[in-house]
Amino acid sequence: MAEPFLIGENMTGGYGAVDILHNCTIAVERGQIAVIVGPNGAGKSTAMKAVFGMLNLRGGRVMLDGEDISKLSPQARVHRGMGFVPQTSNIFTSMTVEENLEMGAFIRTDDIKGTMAQIYDLFPILKQKRYQAAGELSGGQRQQVAVGRALMTQPKVLMLDEPTAGVSPIVMDELFDRIIEVARTGISILMVEQNARQALDIADKGYVLVQGANRFTDTGQALLADPEVRRSFLGG
Ligand SMILES: Nc1ncnc2c1ncn2[C@@H]1O[C@H](COP(=O)(O)OP(=O)(O)OP(=O)(O)O)[C@@H](O)[C@H]1O
Ligand SMILES: [Mg+2]
Repeated sequence: MAEPFLIGENMTGGYGAVDILHNCTIAVERGQIAVIVGPNGAGKSTAMKAVFGMLNLRGGRVMLDGEDISKLSPQARVHRGMGFVPQTSNIFTSMTVEENLEMGAFIRTDDIKGTMAQIYDLFPILKQKRYQAAGELSGGQRQQVAVGRALMTQPKVLMLDEPTAGVSPIVMDELFDRIIEVARTGISILMVEQNARQALDIADKGYVLVQGANRFTDTGQALLADPEVRRSFLGG
């Protein structure tokens, strides 16, 4: 079988001397959507940080497009085509929407206008509010700014840590539709989600993490149909 486009393989590590991840593996294929679910404190964000290079791994490796990137800094990973939207503090609230998008393009030296226009097509409300401070926007709109900011580098893989946190079900559905749209353009999506059912429903691949380890891994649909997954992680 061909290697996944991005894989954090057998990752072990944590903060200081305490390991949070134990032989944890998460991966995404080119143009597909992979979703990580699991209880609070399971290590989902830690796994994302590890894949993005924000955590020193004691074991395992991270491979991108067949290349070992384990030793690269987060910024170097951005240059290789990775975009990351962290769970918290993912926008500059005092800057305008448009300034946030410009900040997102920090590594680019070419003309960014075309990319910005694409992001405004994807999220029309952001165009309308482009001169407004991002901190004045609603929760769902802020998440659009955060996703848009990450897209400004034209990543090959977009990592999203709880992109629908704190938004209404309708806004969540809209955000998922936009994420599917991004994946259809060939960008891989690796996403952590609290809304496990809805997220697994759009996932090509799903990972259930518990205490820093892989508990279940399968297609999104298979996990949704698995009685044990349903009972333990999806509320029946
Ligand atoms: N910066 C940090 N320093 C030390 N421990 C941390 C740090 N961040 C997280 N932890 C610990 O690591 C464990 C996993 O946390 P993590 O944030 O990865 O979980 P999570 O699955 O993302 O949870 P949530 O669903 O609440 O976002 C927890 O026990 C947490 O207390
Ligand atoms: Mg988290």
